[in-house]
Amino acid sequence: MKCVAGKTRPIHRHFRHALIAGTTILLAGCAKDLHSSESALNPAGPEARHIASLTWVFLWVCVAVYVIVMLVLIGAILHRRHGKAMEPTNDHFEPDPVREGRLWNVVFGALAVTVVTLFVLLASDFATGRALHRLAGNPEELHVRLIGHQWWWDVNYDDWPSRFGERGPSNTFKTANEIHIPVDPQHPVTLELKLDSHDVIHSFWVPNLHGKRDLIPGHPTEIFIQVDKPGIYWGECAEYCGYQHANMRIAVIAQSVDEFRQWIAQQQSTPPEPTTDVQKRGKEVFLHSSCVMCHTVGGTMARGAVGPDLTHFASRQLLAAGAAPNRPGFLAGWIVDPQKIKPGCGMPQNSIGATDLRALLEYLETLQ
Ligand code: CUA
Repeated sequence: MKCVAGKTRPIHRHFRHALIAGTTILLAGCAKDLHSSESALNPAGPEARHIASLTWVFLWVCVAVYVIVMLVLIGAILHRRHGKAMEPTNDHFEPDPVREGRLWNVVFGALAVTVVTLFVLLASDFATGRALHRLAGNPEELHVRLIGHQWWWDVNYDDWPSRFGERGPSNTFKTANEIHIPVDPQHPVTLELKLDSHDVIHSFWVPNLHGKRDLIPGHPTEIFIQVDKPGIYWGECAEYCGYQHANMRIAVIAQSVDEFRQWIAQQQSTPPEPTTDVQKRGKEVFLHSSCVMCHTVGGTMARGAVGPDLTHFASRQLLAAGAAPNRPGFLAGWIVDPQKIKPGCGMPQNSIGATDLRALLEYLETLQ
């Protein structure tokens, strides 16, 4: 069929624009993923490396299949254009049996290659799945329970190798939205992360360290993580869990053995008593407000368990699971009107005078 030139041009133009836009988006996506620290293609531990290798195997196999299929298709189109394929082989237009046999061989050959390729992908997927469980049973294990809430992470340190500090039921502690792990090349420590949820389905995903794992209420599961480079690895909830799903970030902080030991000791201690009058007033404000209904601060009467434990709140990176950085200005806004920063979250508005607010901020900054 012939096309009218005037009608085809806009279609070509649309196609060209779509191609440019698509390529730009693709390149922008690649640039972000390859250069930002949060990327599954920049693995920082053995499990993430297995997953990254599997990704590359699938990618290159799919690229090869695509290229081969396109070459065969183009070859067939050119062949037909030159009129060879449709030529009758005899007066009755019966197919040439030799040629017919050759075509059947090609079809069966292609089928066999497809089946073998799918089995190779299946086998590499299976091998990766097994490799991800190989870290279980390491004697150097750090046991952390991670509980998903709408919309924050409750982090419970239950046990760790004795070289990092005092163990036992009275030495466990809680934090929120960040997990610390030691990096020890001589005796690698495995983080055994037990995952559970108390409301809806969430999904833990720190791309540099591991694949996604769902947190399903009533169905605890576990994953094993090792990190070989110190640094902060960002992650997020990867399962849509409601209004503030996008503000459910988590940080995994990999640090040296000494830093980790200090961190454990700090988390086990009660925060220092306020020293200045303003800080003391801030503590009074905190203990006589509705804050204590939901939050815990070790060493005080505040024993609420609805929201994050605030015992060492000032030592943390994130406020409201990543809705804002943990800095005084943002914290003031968060205390007064959290619904403006994270609409739908569990924290209510607080009508508090400027002097009390300043004192409360100073007190919260002492919770190191
Ligand atoms: Cu939790 Cu999405």
